[in-house]
Amino acid sequence: MITAVAGSAAPVIDRRIYGQFAEHLGRGIYEGLWVGESSEIPHRNGLRVDAIQALRDIKVPVVRWPGGCFADEYHWLQGIGADRGAMVNTHWGGVVDPNEFGTHEYFELLNQLDAEAYINGNVGSGTVAEMQDWIEYMTLDSHTPMAELRKSHGRDQPWKVQFFGVGNESWGCGGNMMPLHYANLYRQYQTYVRDYGDNRITKVACGANSDDYEWTDVVMARASGHMDALSLHYYTLPTGNWDVKGAALDFDDAAWYETIRRTLFMDTLLARHGEVMDRYDPAKRVGLYVDEWGTWYDVEQGTNPGFLYQQNTMRDAVVAALNFHVFHRHAARVRMTNIAQMVNVLQAMLLTDGPRLIKTPTYFAFALYTDHHDATLVPTKGVLPPHTDVTVSRKDGAVTVSAVNYALDRPARIEIDLPGAIGTLRRSEILTGASTSHNTFEVPTALGLAAFEDVAVTGSRLVLDLPPCSIVTVRADVAGV
Ligand code: AHR
Repeated sequence: MITAVAGSAAPVIDRRIYGQFAEHLGRGIYEGLWVGESSEIPHRNGLRVDAIQALRDIKVPVVRWPGGCFADEYHWLQGIGADRGAMVNTHWGGVVDPNEFGTHEYFELLNQLDAEAYINGNVGSGTVAEMQDWIEYMTLDSHTPMAELRKSHGRDQPWKVQFFGVGNESWGCGGNMMPLHYANLYRQYQTYVRDYGDNRITKVACGANSDDYEWTDVVMARASGHMDALSLHYYTLPTGNWDVKGAALDFDDAAWYETIRRTLFMDTLLARHGEVMDRYDPAKRVGLYVDEWGTWYDVEQGTNPGFLYQQNTMRDAVVAALNFHVFHRHAARVRMTNIAQMVNVLQAMLLTDGPRLIKTPTYFAFALYTDHHDATLVPTKGVLPPHTDVTVSRKDGAVTVSAVNYALDRPARIEIDLPGAIGTLRRSEILTGASTSHNTFEVPTALGLAAFEDVAVTGSRLVLDLPPCSIVTVRADVAGV
């Protein structure tokens, strides 16, 4: 039995915790989102209608672009206008990127999704002037050369750029830098990431790889006064071994529990990076953005190893849900995360095969948690059954409870005392299946959300009977919240 304690000081769960990441990688953008104006796949302004509709339904708040490792090789001027310069995508399969999808197409994507911009700038191989010009091109309403160039390409009004990352994985693919070197470069580059007109940019410094707390320490010590957020990257590999990561579909129960154990390490990471940040920023002004996270498996057989294409099962949905719970717990510091990646790459929401599109179990985990967007966390105390986890939030007079039972062999009863009398049930849904259940292009709806009936209410007490391997969301009006 656990008790949900409303009214105590608790942070808001920023909707951007449910953010996405779309890199020029494999079929993530080309085919997955962008099919071009002449495609026979139904599209609006080159963006496939089925993908946009599905993503709108899960209320994507923000999309990080253009990378990833790709960002530190990207030269934005090649991606505007009629004459696009093709480039080799050296990190991801060595294929040629035609630069058909560039700045204007990205903002069209955001427009269709009703999402915010999070652009990652090039520090690894780009210049300060190039970054400065890009900001001007996107956000300056004036008669300067960059603003005029934008207008000449058909966009009169500047766009809004809410978030800008200064380098990606600068400790690795973004330049192999030492933290002090990066901190100095960050200070220099960010100087020219300017606010024009009423545009206000949240500046994001490149943060650590997993448990590299020294990186966080040095970058915070030297540059925290110049940043609004610091990133963190952590991927869940079932084996923890980059050479043999494990398969997306063919795994046993031991791999299931090991994947979950490694997922829950996110909690330790956020606590420890948070402690380091607290030393320099006790007021938590600087956000911690986990702008890459998710499962990373061996690629599907017969696919380009550089395209990072993997299937997605109930295991991925549970990994996503447990990560959401961890992010909620750390919501005072963690104000954005971006799952890697939105379509066809790593732990994707959607998979496509030419004109065909399927929603993954991870997609349905995101669908189950939309009521937590911008809701206030309701802390809980008490003891939960083994292999379960619960998160609670309140918004607009209702309380949302999401629960995970990641035991594969037994059901779990979750009893929870909410902070007031429970009224009308607004939502009660479940995602459940066998550990390896997934959707395919042949059977696209093998797995999806269903009505959840095993819920009982007595006064302020909610009792949920979860089957093994399940995720549930119940939303109810609660008096006094
Ligand atoms: O998401 C795939 C890659 O993982 C990104 O390009 C990079 O930043 C990270 O190593």
